Amino acid sequence: MVLAQAGDANAGKAVYERKCVLCHGEKGDGKGPGAENLDPRPRDFTSGVYKVRTTVNKVPTDQDIFRVISKGMPGTSMPAWDVLPEKDRWHLVAYVKSFAAEKLKEAPKKLDLPKEVAPSEASIKRGKEMFEAIECNKCHGTEGRADGPSHPELKDDWSHPIRPANLTKRWTFRGGADRTAVATRIANGVLGTPMPAFGDAVEKPEDVWHLANYIASLGPESPRLATLVTVTAVTDAIPDDPNADFWRKIAPGAIPLMGQVIVDPRNFNPSIDLISVRAAWNDREIAFHLTWDDPTESKDAGKSDGVALQFPPQPPTGPERPYFLMGDASDGVYQLRWEHGRGVAEVTANGPGKVAPIAGGEATAKVAFANGQYRLVIKRALASKDASRPPFTPAAFMPVAVQAWDGGAGEAPPKMSLTSWYYLRLEEPQSSRRFVIPPVVAILTFAVMFVVVRAARSRG
Ligand code: HEC
Ligand code: HEC
Repeated sequence: MVLAQAGDANAGKAVYERKCVLCHGEKGDGKGPGAENLDPRPRDFTSGVYKVRTTVNKVPTDQDIFRVISKGMPGTSMPAWDVLPEKDRWHLVAYVKSFAAEKLKEAPKKLDLPKEVAPSEASIKRGKEMFEAIECNKCHGTEGRADGPSHPELKDDWSHPIRPANLTKRWTFRGGADRTAVATRIANGVLGTPMPAFGDAVEKPEDVWHLANYIASLGPESPRLATLVTVTAVTDAIPDDPNADFWRKIAPGAIPLMGQVIVDPRNFNPSIDLISVRAAWNDREIAFHLTWDDPTESKDAGKSDGVALQFPPQPPTGPERPYFLMGDASDGVYQLRWEHGRGVAEVTANGPGKVAPIAGGEATAKVAFANGQYRLVIKRALASKDASRPPFTPAAFMPVAVQAWDGGAGEAPPKMSLTSWYYLRLEEPQSSRRFVIPPVVAILTFAVMFVVVRAARSRG
């Protein structure tokens, strides 16, 4: 822990004017030239409102502000400023506070968390019960995916719509993902937002730990990001059902998506930020299993949710690839494009405005939606019928990009989320028993992976 130091507001002003005005504005009112398109908006420091506190009153400690400046606010555009010397960060604390000296003049009152409860099955069970009993699910949803019935109506103190946190994605929590941070947010709330303080609402004080343990059980602390989409080779039939056990046995790779901000209409506040991809192939077909969170299932025409897997029309022979944003006039792309209510189509695109279905499309799809999450299987024949669609060939590296849109949030291509190009690789068929890896092979595989990863790191 860093000991609090008295910062000098004047020295802080100089750093602020170099690093912070773009978003927070010269007057500290959150109206910097870059603020307009950010969601959440940069904080208006004149309000004296701080989301991340370890106090029971509205006044944060200097440590709290120092921490948030150093670590940033995950899931928002507020960067981590740990690149600045520690001294400068203390000066910034003093300067930022000076915008609301009057509102922050009360002394901070430290929150006393009850004695920590270690995670256990019993604690998680109690946490889940409390989650329902005190209606966290009204906002956060049954499984924590930000899809509760109140989610569309929520606004922050500055009248901007605000989404409840997706509790399965702890890495997006403003105040940090560790259990102590989560227990603290539950106990004293997130000021300036509809997230109330529950310190007094829970039945017993230690319930904040049971709730934190329950939340920690909903998802990993950080996503397992894929660098490559590996398509598992199987000899059996591949099930269409996205909930089939088959899919659970394949390790997913998580792919982060960004809002499309290159062409109009731009998407500065994308709804979909991550898609988990699993894939399998056999001698006849290739299948993609996609999982992503979307708080509302929408399938009405013009408002439907959708996703597209994009490939070059033919496997590339060199490093050139079409423009990742749906190709351009000279180099088109091929897409497997699924829209809820309409199913999957094979299309070509020569830019966002030029999408045309390919005659005789034969891809199929099956979807399941539950508790704010889509699971979708898209299948296609391995071989291509003609030159407008690419064949999929074992061991070759095939570019792939992903696009997705949340119709319920007013998104439709090109106002969507997207990735640039990734690579896909069909694993070569191995011996017949694929899910049983002999221990010696496993050890060798890990040893080789270790060397490869180390080599890659030292090169980078
Ligand atoms: C790219 C835009 C951007 C820049 C640059 C930026 N911030 Fe922020 N900052 C934000 C946003 C957005 C929020 C609000 C996030 C939220 O409300 O969830 C924020 C919030 C904050 C908060 C409030 C923390 C809390 O607990 O509520 C502090 C303090 C802060 N910023 C300090 C700084 C300082 C100091 C600098 C310069 C060293 C800086 N910021 C630069 C975007 C920015
Ligand atoms: C009235 C709606 C509402 C209720 C009820 C509610 N929350 Fe929240 N919660 C929110 C909103 C909105 C946010 C997002 C705040 C933000 O983005 O700054 C949030 C954020 C969170 C966070 C993330 C904190 C962070 O650091 O970003 C956690 C954890 C959380 N809530 C847990 C809970 C638990 C547990 C309960 C029940 C005890 C609960 N919430 C009840 C609306 C609610």
